[in-house]
Amino acid sequence: MFNTRDGRSAAEEIRTEYRSFEVDSLTPHIGAEVLGVDLSKPLSNELAQDVHDAWMDWKVLVFRDQHIDREHHKAFARRFGSLHVHPMQHAYRGDPEILKVKTTGDSAYTAGDGWHTDVTCDEIPPLGSMLYVTETPASGGGDTLFADMYLAYETLSEPMRAFLDGLTAVHDGAIPYVGSYKSTPPEGGYPRNEHPVITRHPGTGRKVLYVNRGFTSHIVGLSRPESAAVLNMLYRHIDSTPRLWCRVDWKPNTLTFWDNRCTQHHAVWDYYPHTRYGERVSILGEERPAA
Ligand code: SIN
Repeated sequence: MFNTRDGRSAAEEIRTEYRSFEVDSLTPHIGAEVLGVDLSKPLSNELAQDVHDAWMDWKVLVFRDQHIDREHHKAFARRFGSLHVHPMQHAYRGDPEILKVKTTGDSAYTAGDGWHTDVTCDEIPPLGSMLYVTETPASGGGDTLFADMYLAYETLSEPMRAFLDGLTAVHDGAIPYVGSYKSTPPEGGYPRNEHPVITRHPGTGRKVLYVNRGFTSHIVGLSRPESAAVLNMLYRHIDSTPRLWCRVDWKPNTLTFWDNRCTQHHAVWDYYPHTRYGERVSILGEERPAA
């Protein structure tokens, strides 16, 4: 557990040694580089278990110098569940399990350029995502920030935690996919679902602040101005608390695997007009987010 109110670091250090590898942490509580693992080779059960354990511990795992194709990428993701198809894939041809993340000098936007958790508009959002970046901007930049949403919850005051517990919020795919990306919705529209504002991670049992600027439209049962005020306060808490974050500085052939149930991320578009390219595979969640 973390000491949350006074800025001291984690009371309990997270391990850095696993049976099959060691990790180099990016911060004391979120983000670690996994050393000496080759994802082009089949993963033994022991190695897959260690990756799982390190992912539970560190929430964001970074694998450098990986030379993999799409089948390796998907095979790695399948070790953790079946693959998710993104709701915007109806508009694209190609492999529905691969989401291309491409930004060039002609792009109108870059995907994920704002704090969000992936696809929380789904009834069962992905439990994790793996982004494999092969081209980084010639100018430098193009990092991704990740925020620890356990710590975001734990650094709220006790009265605020008590107020939020038991509330639910609506997450609406039309907000990013139509509002920001101007895409044409599939028949029946983009998904829209209600989830608890405070969820419990099914693997660790820890509580998570589970609203995000990308998808959450409003808190159910509050008036619109009340809901907007509470959500803006929570988003400011995430935006303005750097100790919640780690920063992944991509090099070509880096794969990052994040736990989508207890993190948010923000892709930084600071490299216009340069190009950045990656492909993302996401893993289907097993259950609805629950309190
Ligand atoms: C995303 O999955 O939201 C994109 C992240 C990134 O491009 O770094």
